[in-house]
Formats: sequence, structure tokens, C-alpha cells
Amino acid sequence: MICKDVHSALSAIRERYESGQVVVVHDAHCGWPIESAHKSEWAEVPSLALEVSEAAKSLETVQHIWDFFFEHGLTRRALVIAIGGGVLTDLTGFAASTYKRGIDYVNVPTSLLAMVDASSGGKTGFNYHGLKNGIGTFHAPVETLICPDFLRTLPAKEWLSGFGEMLKTGLISGKRQKTAAKPLKEESLWNALLQYDLDAMETEPLTPLIIACVRAKEAIVAQDPQEEGLRKVLNFGHTFGHALEEISIVHRQSSNRQLLHGYAVVYGLIAELYLSVIKLGCSKEPLQQLTQLMLHYYGKPECKCSDRERLIALMQQDKKNERAATINCTLIQAIGSPVINQVITVEEANEALDYLFSL
Ligand SMILES: NC(=O)c1ccc[n+]([C@@H]2O[C@H](COP(=O)([O-])OP(=O)(O)OC[C@H]3O[C@@H](n4cnc5c(N)ncnc54)[C@H](O)[C@@H]3O)[C@@H](O)[C@H]2O)c1
Repeated sequence: MICKDVHSALSAIRERYESGQVVVVHDAHCGWPIESAHKSEWAEVPSLALEVSEAAKSLETVQHIWDFFFEHGLTRRALVIAIGGGVLTDLTGFAASTYKRGIDYVNVPTSLLAMVDASSGGKTGFNYHGLKNGIGTFHAPVETLICPDFLRTLPAKEWLSGFGEMLKTGLISGKRQKTAAKPLKEESLWNALLQYDLDAMETEPLTPLIIACVRAKEAIVAQDPQEEGLRKVLNFGHTFGHALEEISIVHRQSSNRQLLHGYAVVYGLIAELYLSVIKLGCSKEPLQQLTQLMLHYYGKPECKCSDRERLIALMQQDKKNERAATINCTLIQAIGSPVINQVITVEEANEALDYLFSL
């Protein structure tokens, strides 16, 4: 999982595959190949560098990756190494899951968001007809190697985006058991996250928090790999978050600014924490703590009045919904006590949006 020398770890995995049957697909800006004594060994491995972005999380990019696999004669026993942020690992995972009915891939996440969330759990996909991850598969990587050294080149706003997903994990995770394996000193992941110094953005104190988030996600996914029930707790903040993110993709052409996934999740968490307070009697404390953090680091969400109807429509269309035209959310009764399948009325959704946009 956490590895200091990613080249050595990958070399060990590479030995399990036939020579000529290992390729790398990487984000052109992720810092690969990272500096190490073993860097030169990777020069001979065919690699495809991609310019990725949420807008390029498309079928065209998937086709480009499939073409690269065919060009290098990959068989069904090949290995693809996906190195990059969540867009790159989702796209490459999808291409690997469908090429010749599925080949192996390894994820090497290089953004914080990909380390704590996108690179584990086996969900792959791309955006289609304006719907985020509208087409996708479940296809778990054979391994995920997390090398926090990649974070040294990650821009601050991307760092904050990843931290948004960590905050979600903190809110749905309970008190820590007293085991030798626990990576944190604090009693709860949420408290540990609130104590992390986001101004300094240091990798070392972040590493135990990354480990705790990955373990929390893996424990949930192991019990419900296909998202039939329990796994939906990971969607806390995402019903509102995805709708806000999709609206920003629509506005991207005019404003040239798109909401980063983790920022959208933070705004979604505020709306869904608000609903947790009014519907499930959750204490106001986490909402107040997150609101303070949001105002200090993430800024206020932007929304035009004309967006309201579209936001509600997007939430009604969300693929997490069990029934058409309803809004379905995961909420929390308290930190560490998530409740799935909460049906939200349009009035309640509007009230939560009123709260969010009034901040
Ligand atoms: N599969 C899942 O379970 C899952 C879970 C959460 C999110 N996601 C997906 O993940 C995506 C978001 O991931 P993301 O935030 O990593 O976005 P991203 O992949 O677009 O990466 C963010 C930016 O950081 C750059 N970057 C990546 N690593 C870098 C590094 N080490 N140094 C410098 N720059 C670097 C990228 O080039 C990009 O510009 C979304 O599409 C979302 O749907 C998937």
C-alpha cells in the first residue's frame, strides 16, 4: 500500500508478467518518472502520457488508451500501470476492464484525492452525455501503490480537493479501536483531520491520515464491493456535490473555471450535514466545524439562480437513486453513524441549498 520507492515496488510486480506485456499510462503532469536510483529501468517500458482533465474524461480518451494497448499487442495476460490522479486512474481502469474482456492493472495514485479515494474500491469510468461517470465498471486493480512523495509537486488547490474527500471519510468513520495497527494518535479520524495544519501542507503528518482513510474505505468496500447497500455510506456529500460539479462543467466554457471534485464534495457535505441536523437530529457541531473550514480554505460556492432547477434535476437523475425522480442521500446521525437511502423532498433540497448559498 504505502511505498517509499515506487520503482522497486513496480519492478517486483512487473516480474510476474511476460516481458513486453507491461505498459504504463500516465498523467503528463504527475511527476512520473519520480527521481530514484531505479528510474532508468522504466525507460524501456512503453508508456503513454496523457493530458487529462475532467473535460477529457471521455470516450475519446478511452479509445486512445485502447489503441495504445492494441498497438503494443497486449494479450489478456498483460499488465497496465496507471499513474496519475483520479481522472487518469478511472479512465485507465475502465480501458483495462474492457480490453479483451478485462486485463490486470495497478494504480499508482499521484494526487491526494486519488490516494485516499479514487484509486481503491474498483470503480472505473468516464463522463458521458454530461453525466459524471455515466459509463463505468467495477474492476479492482491488482494493487494500489501509494507513494506520498508524488504530493510534493501537487498544486495547493488539488491538495485541498483531496482533503475534501478525507473530511467525508472522517465524518462517516467511528471512534478508533485500540489496536496495534491504528495509525493515528487521536481518538477519531475527524478530530485528527481538524488538527492537520492545512497551511503547512506537509506530507509526513498527512501520511497516517491517508492510511486511515484508505483503511476505512477498504473495510467498507470489502463488505459491499458492488455498492448494494453499505458502500453507499461513501456517497455522503456526493448527491449535492456531484450536482454542483456537473453544473460547473456546464459553466466552464463561459467562466473557464471548473469546480474541483473535492471542493464540490465539501459543499455537498455542508448541504447534507444541514439535512442530517434537520432530519436525523445530528449535532450542529460538525456542521459548524466544517463551515468554518470551508470559509477559510475553500471559499463560498458559486451559484446562479437559474442553476437551482438544474441542480435539483441533476440530483433526481443521480445514478445512486433507487427510484426515478427522487433525491436519495446518505446522511449521518452523528460522526461515525451514517444512514443510507434517505429520501429528500425538493423542498428539503432547496432548504439545504439556501443554507449553503447563504454562507
Ligand atoms: N473511482 C472512484 O472510486 C473515484 C472516487 C473519487 C473520485 N473519483 C474521480 O477522480 C477524479 C478526480 O481526481 P483528481 O482530483 O485526482 O483529479 P485529476 O486526475 O484531474 O488530477 C488533478 C490535477 O492534478 C494533476 N496532478 C496529478 N498528480 C500530480 C502530481 N503528483 N503533481 C502535480 N500535478 C499532479 C493532474 O494533472 C490534474 O491537473 C474525478 O473524475 C472523480 O470522478 C473516482
